[in-house]
Amino acid sequence: MSSTQDTTSHDRPTERRMTRRNFIVWYLAGLLTALVVAIIAPILVYVYPPPGQTKRQGIKVQLPTPLDQIEPGTAVEFQSPPQTGFLMVDGGGDNYAGKIGFKGYVVNVGSELVVLSATCSHLGCQINPPSGSQKIFLCPCHGSEFDLHGKVTHGPAIAPLSHYAWHASGPGEITVLGVPLPGVG
Ligand code: FES
Repeated sequence: MSSTQDTTSHDRPTERRMTRRNFIVWYLAGLLTALVVAIIAPILVYVYPPPGQTKRQGIKVQLPTPLDQIEPGTAVEFQSPPQTGFLMVDGGGDNYAGKIGFKGYVVNVGSELVVLSATCSHLGCQINPPSGSQKIFLCPCHGSEFDLHGKVTHGPAIAPLSHYAWHASGPGEITVLGVPLPGVG
């Protein structure tokens, strides 16, 4: 008899109790999942844009200065044409891949040209271009500064400026990846 009772007792599902170890394991698993989602989500938004951002297209922009005449250490501003916006390809802080911007800079960093979004990574104000001997972008809202590559040199921003995907399509023209935005601008 007692042998039967023992067997029955062993076959019963083990009670699951929340031990400190289990709690830590689940806590770390949750933390890891949140981290993965935070990293993957912007990439997914970029690869699979939400409805309304599906019609990606190259947007032609005329520059005030031909590409080969942009002096090292200077930046040339450009705006998106009416009813279009540019797509950021990376981000950090308030910016993220897939976010729309309406203004950018072609920057001659000395060795190459880079194209940056003009949207500050702190809270989204529009940065000012380098002027005179100051080779920095300055945000007028809270004083963040970025070097010519878009890296933060002074806070409160902690993330670099975003880039736009682009290519030269003429001596004074670039084509920037963007989307149509009917009714905007
Ligand atoms: S929005 Fe640029 S520093 Fe705050």
